[in-house]
Amino acid sequence: VSNGQWTSRAVPMEGDGAYNRGAMVQAAHSGSIIPLLEATTRRIPLDNLDVPLVLADYGCAQGASSLEPMRTAIAVLRDPAGPDRPICVVHNDQPDNDFASLFRLLEEDPNSYLRNNVNVFPSAVGRSFYHRLLPSSSVALGWSSNAVHWLSRVPVSVTDTWNAGWTNIPDVRATYVRQSDEDWREFLRHRGEELRRGGRLLVSMGATADNGALGWDVVARHMHAELTAMSMNHIISLDEYAQMVVPTVLRSREALLAPFGADGRFGELAVEHLDIVLAPDPIWEEFLRSGDATAYGRRWATACRVTFAPSLAAALMGEQRVAFLNQLEEGLAERFATEPEPVAMWFARIIIARLES
Ligand SMILES: C[S@@+](CC[C@H](N)C(=O)[O-])C[C@H]1O[C@@H](n2cnc3c(N)ncnc32)[C@H](O)[C@@H]1O
Repeated sequence: VSNGQWTSRAVPMEGDGAYNRGAMVQAAHSGSIIPLLEATTRRIPLDNLDVPLVLADYGCAQGASSLEPMRTAIAVLRDPAGPDRPICVVHNDQPDNDFASLFRLLEEDPNSYLRNNVNVFPSAVGRSFYHRLLPSSSVALGWSSNAVHWLSRVPVSVTDTWNAGWTNIPDVRATYVRQSDEDWREFLRHRGEELRRGGRLLVSMGATADNGALGWDVVARHMHAELTAMSMNHIISLDEYAQMVVPTVLRSREALLAPFGADGRFGELAVEHLDIVLAPDPIWEEFLRSGDATAYGRRWATACRVTFAPSLAAALMGEQRVAFLNQLEEGLAERFATEPEPVAMWFARIIIARLES
C-alpha cells in the first residue's frame, strides 16, 4: 500500500456537502447556543456610521450549522441598525474547505439567512483562523462553533491513538498541550485586532469537563478498535496508521482563561462569560425515540467519517482514501450498533468583548 501525502495540519471536513449531511452533533450543539448568541448580540453597541456591520463565522465548514446563528444575529441587529445598513457575513475556513456547498446552501436552503433579508452580503475567506483574516476593528460579532479545538498544525506524530487529545505518551501530550496553548493565544490575538470596540466574540469548542473528564469515550473506543482492526487486516499499513492523527485538543477552563491573566484582560479583550456544558446528543435521543440500533450505528459512523476521517485519510492516496473512508464508516456502524449508549461531550462557551475604550 503506497503512502499518500503526509499532512502536517488539520484537514477540512469531508467535501461535496457530506459534512452538512452528517454533522448532526455539531448542528445540535450550535443550535443550543442560540439564546446565548442572541443575548450577546444585543449588547453590541451600534454607532450611526454608514459602514457595514460585519459578522464573522470562523471555521464554518459547509455552513449548515451557521445558518441559524447568522440569521439570529441579523434579526437582532437589523432593527437598531436600520433597514439600509449593509450587513456583511464573512464565512471563514481553511483554503481546501468545500466553500461551493456553503454558497449553494445559502442560495437554496429554506433556512438561509438570505431568505427574507435584504442588504445582507455573504462572502468567504479561505485562510487559517490562526492568521489575521479581516481589517483592524472591522468585526461587530465573531462566531465560531466546534472549530477552535482543531490545532494549527500537527506538531508531532501520535503513535498510540488516532486523536492527539487521547495520547498517553507524556512527551507527545505535553507537545500538543503547548501547541494548543499557543494556538488559543494566537487565535485571540488576531480576533482582538479584528473586533471593533464593543464588539463581541462567541466561541464554542470541545473542552474537558471541570472534573477533568475528556468525554467522547464511546467514540474514542470504537474509532481505535476499528482502525486497529483495519491495520491488522492490512487495509492500512502500521506505518500509515502511525501517521494518522486528528489534531484536536480539548482545553480545560484554566487553559482557556490562561491568556487573560489575573486582571481578566488579554490586550483589549475581556472574558464576559465562560461555561463548560454537556452538549446535546441528538443521535442518542433519536435512538431513545426509535429503538433502532442500526440507525444509531449508521449516524455515529457517518458523523465520525465526515468530521475525523478526512484528517486520518490524508496519509493515503486517492483511491485508497475512498476505500478507507467507506470501510471505516461500515466498520464503525457495526461497532456503534452493537451496544448503543449516550456519548458525553463537553463544550466550552466563551464570550469575549473588546473593551469600548
Ligand atoms: C467540526 S467543523 C465545525 C463546522 C461548523 N462551525 C459547525 O459548528 O458545524 C470544524 C471546522 O473548523 C475548520 N478549521 C479547523 N482548523 C481551522 C483553521 N486553522 N482555520 C480555519 N478553519 C479551521 C475545519 O476545516 C472545519 O470546517
